[in-house]
Formats: sequence, structure tokens, C-alpha cells
Amino acid sequence: MDDAKLNAELPGAPVSRPRPRRFRWAMLVAGVTLVAIANILLKYPAGSRRLCGLPAHATTTAEVCPQASALVPEKNGALWSELTALHATDAFLQRAVGRLSAAVQIPTETYDEMGPVGEDPRWITRGPFVEHLTTAFPLVHAALNLQKVNTYGLIYTWQGSDATLKPLLLMGHYDVVPVAPLSADQWTYPAYSGYFDGENIWGRGSSDDKSGVIGIMTTIEVLLEKNFAPTRTIVFSFGFDEEAGGYHGAGHLGPALLERFGPNSFAMIVDEGSGYTDQFGAIFAAPAIAEKGSVDVTIEVQTPGGHSSVPPEHTSIGILAALIVHLEANAPTPVLKLGSPPFEMAQCLAAHGPAVPHALKSAVLRAKHSKKALKKAEGMLLEDPMFRALVGTTQAVDIVSGGVKSNALPEQALAVVNHRIATQSSVNATITRDAALVKDLAARFNLSVTAYGEPLTPAAGAYGTLSLSAPRSLEPAPITPSAAPPFQLLAGTIRTVLGATYGDVQEVFVTPGMMTGNTDTRFTWALSEHIFRYGHGNMIGGLGGIHTVDEHIKVDSFIGMISFFTTLILNADEAAL
Ligand SMILES: *[C@@H]1O[C@H](CO)[C@@H](O)[C@H](O)[C@H]1NC(C)=O
Ligand SMILES: *[C@@H]1O[C@H](CO)[C@@H](O)[C@H](O)[C@H]1NC(C)=O
Ligand SMILES: [Zn+2]
Repeated sequence: MDDAKLNAELPGAPVSRPRPRRFRWAMLVAGVTLVAIANILLKYPAGSRRLCGLPAHATTTAEVCPQASALVPEKNGALWSELTALHATDAFLQRAVGRLSAAVQIPTETYDEMGPVGEDPRWITRGPFVEHLTTAFPLVHAALNLQKVNTYGLIYTWQGSDATLKPLLLMGHYDVVPVAPLSADQWTYPAYSGYFDGENIWGRGSSDDKSGVIGIMTTIEVLLEKNFAPTRTIVFSFGFDEEAGGYHGAGHLGPALLERFGPNSFAMIVDEGSGYTDQFGAIFAAPAIAEKGSVDVTIEVQTPGGHSSVPPEHTSIGILAALIVHLEANAPTPVLKLGSPPFEMAQCLAAHGPAVPHALKSAVLRAKHSKKALKKAEGMLLEDPMFRALVGTTQAVDIVSGGVKSNALPEQALAVVNHRIATQSSVNATITRDAALVKDLAARFNLSVTAYGEPLTPAAGAYGTLSLSAPRSLEPAPITPSAAPPFQLLAGTIRTVLGATYGDVQEVFVTPGMMTGNTDTRFTWALSEHIFRYGHGNMIGGLGGIHTVDEHIKVDSFIGMISFFTTLILNADEAAL
């Protein structure tokens, strides 16, 4: 469903107001979450959505999700005002759009399982992109230190005057997901045209994430033009294969930053991620403070082969099918935990969102003090598949294979189960659970079980073997504290920038957000406790074709991102962090 339509149809929601910027961006997912909760709004009758007083024993909304005051640079105030005025000019717009459009025209596609840089020829598209940055941002390249890591990974360092202040780290990635050949002719404008129609910039990467990379570069170039000299060191790093896990790019950039700067050396990290929406009757921005983990569990069944004319009751394929059915019948149950990031987000929306239905609002706000209310809130929130996915560990059987010939018994069959791990869980808990489930059933089929290299049952005397493996996994990210100064600085910055655009018509709130997907920040945990996935993407009206046809970004939104980066840098330069 189109989000704009969803919003318009919301019965009882505040009358829709003029929207100065209606672009769409995206998300990795905190955005999707906001959309998800909006779906919940549709499920409750209009009558229950009246704004009314909370029950006497409810937590008062003032205590829940307190809002940082809008933060405006003071020491750098004159420069900030000058740049704010500059960002509103057509000349600036043309210039920023030109840089982004040219960036989109370089097809830096990332494929799964690419070979090493220098061997796999598909990396060479990165060369022209780095060249584009060099020519488009001459001051950045003249004044800043550039370290290239694994050829195409970029770390720019702008040395501040006070070396005792921890640097600010901004991140992005300049690779894109491939354009599916069969979908190429479905694009309104060719996928790598970077076409600007006066309102939108079109093309793969226009939003995810070349807008972030070009937005940061443009911000820095302009600050250099204005002779800004930072007090706090600013570092920005760009990966080149985020869309395939970041192993060649950020996977080398993270360790390089750790070697140069040391552990816990950055005041805060801001990478691509979520944005803001106008659902819930106000503007909500949701910097992601958490990321789920992930693991692929391979389940392999081996049984004796033979001629298919004398078959056993169950072949390896039949047994595997039974195991899959068993796993799906016993999927992990999501539990909404007090204090978890999805709970914090629900609290913030309930406390401040005028359009949140009364019954939901009341249950969520009472949940901290009442188990019954928590159960009720959980029941209502988990009705939505998107919110469900955010809260719990998920599982999806994504690959299955087995058998080679129609008259030969299959000696081997395997399935790969992809799990996204809840922030309150772990890789170990997830894979141990799978092992326990399949072990129960293996006995029935007379199979010995080996789980992750450890034999669980003796191999001797069994008909076949069942083995589980999980070679590649990612723990859920450490949760960024939302009461600490870096979150407050980010929130105050967002409230300033969004307040300037929407403040006259709608209130602006910032809630801790969350991701169901991952970003390059997975390689930066050692660098800072304060990691945010937030690209200031405008999700009002939809997600803008991210990862699919017709990806585009509204020009106002792109300029808004530059205002965001500018305000963030100037605020961070003078704040105690
Ligand atoms: C993994 O989890 C299982 C079950 O929860 C536990 O018994 C085991 O000690 C854990 N192993 C590690 C290495 O944490
Ligand atoms: C399990 O399979 C082995 C090997 O085929 C066989 O010898 C044994 O009798 C079977 N056990 C049961 C309980 O069916
Ligand atoms: Zn991205």
C-alpha cells in the first residue's frame, strides 16, 4: 500500500496538512517499522482513536520519551545561518543535484559472493566513482587526509584543533544493488540516467546511499569554502559493497579505523539508516539504536543411496521435509520485552503520537507497571507482521536442495534457514534452539546428530546422519544508550532541521528506532558505544523505490540531508560529548 494513501485514509487521524516536502526515501527499516505501526492504526475502530485522558494509574506522558530541545549552533551560529540561507538558493540546488546525478550515472553494482578486489573484474566500476569524488570535491581532496583501504574503501580525516575531543564519524556506501536485467525497461527513466526532472533525481543509488555519500561530501566542501576550521576532528568513511554484507569495504575500513584511532575512540557514529515520517499525527524521526543479528543454519540429511525401485519409507528428502515442517510448526515466539528497542519506540509513539489509537496508547503506557497491560500491548503490536519481525527472532527456509536423478535414492538433502536474531537474544541461543528441535525428530528417523561440529548422538548403529552448521553469523548489535549526550545531540539536531520545515504545521518528535536489516556499522562496534543508523531520509509518501524499479529522491529531501549533516557537524563541533 502506498503510504500517502494509507495516511489519507486513516479514520480519525488529524486532517492531513500541507506537506512542504513529499519525497520518499528509505529506510533500511526503521522506516518500515514506522509504516508497520501505522498499519496497526487501521485495525482499531475510529471510535477508539479519540484523544482522551489516560487512566489514572498510567505513566504520565511527560516521563515517557522526553524530547531533547532543538539544538542550534551558537559558537558557529553565524556560519550556520549563512549556510541555511545558501541551502535555500537555486544555485546551490543545481550544484548539489549535478554532483548526485553524475554519481548515479556510475553503475557501482554489488553482487553476492564477489571475488577479491584486484581479481574480480566487477569491482572496476568503483574507479570512476572515486575519480568523480576527486573532481567534484576539489577542496576536500586538497585539504583533507584521504586513506584508501583495500583499494576502494575511503577514509577522509579533517583534523580538528583540539586533539582531546573524540572525533565524529560519518559513514556511507557508494555501491548499489544491481538493476535486474528483466526490469530495466520498467524504469520511467533509465536506471543509471541520474535524470533530474526539476523535482526528483531518478536512478539506482539516488537514495540508497549515494545521496548520503554526496550529501556528506557536499557538506564538507561547502564548509571548506567558508573557511570553517573544526575544533573536533571529523572522519568520514565510505564502503563499496554494503549491499553484499560489506566484507570487502567496511570489513576493512572498520579494522583500519580501529588501528588508527583505537577502541572507543569516536564520540559518535552516524551511518545510513532510517529517516522520518508524518504518520501518527506528527513528524517522527527514528534514529536506529539497534540492529538485529543474523545466522544461516544449514541442515543436512545423509542416508544410504541405492536404486529407487527398492526405496525406504523415507528418503533423505522426505526426512528433510519433515524437519522443515517441524521447525515451522515450532517457530520462535516473539516476546515484547520492557526496555527493548521496539518497546521504547512503541512507548515514544504512544506518548507523543496524536493518531495512535487510545486502546493501544493506554496499554503501551501502562505496560511498565502492569504485566497485564504489557501482554495486551504485545498482542496488539504483534498483530502486525512487520512489528513482529522487529521484536522476535525470525526464521525463513530460503534454500533447499537434494537429489540428482529420478531413479536414484538421494544420498543427501539440505536446507538453509535464515534467522534474524532479536536484539535480546544471541547467535548461540538461536542455533542451539534449532539443534534441540531437529534432535527430537532425528531419533524417529534413526539418524545420528552432529550440531556445529559436536556429536550430539552416537553415529554408530544409525541409519543416516543429520548435521547442522552455521559458518557465518552476526550477533545483534550492542544497543546505543538513548539517554546519553550523543543521542540527545542527534535528536536536538534533527528537531532543529525538521522544525524549520515542518514546525509551523506539525510537531516534531525523535524516537529511538530500530532496524530489521543491517548496515556497514556491524564492523564498527569497537569504535564507539554511540552508533546511529540515520540518514535523515524523508519517508513521507513512501520509500522511493529503494532496491527496486524507479528509485528516486525528492530534491528537497536531498537538500534537507545536507542541512542535517551541516547542523550535525556544527553542533558536534561545540558540544561536550
Ligand atoms: C549456548 O546456549 C546453550 C543453551 O542455551 C548453553 O547451554 C551453552 O552453554 C551456550 N554456549 C555458549 C558457548 O554460550
Ligand atoms: C537404525 O539403522 C541401523 C542401520 O541401518 C539399523 O541397523 C538399526 O536397526 C536401526 N535402528 C532402528 C531403531 O530402526
Ligand atoms: Zn544502503
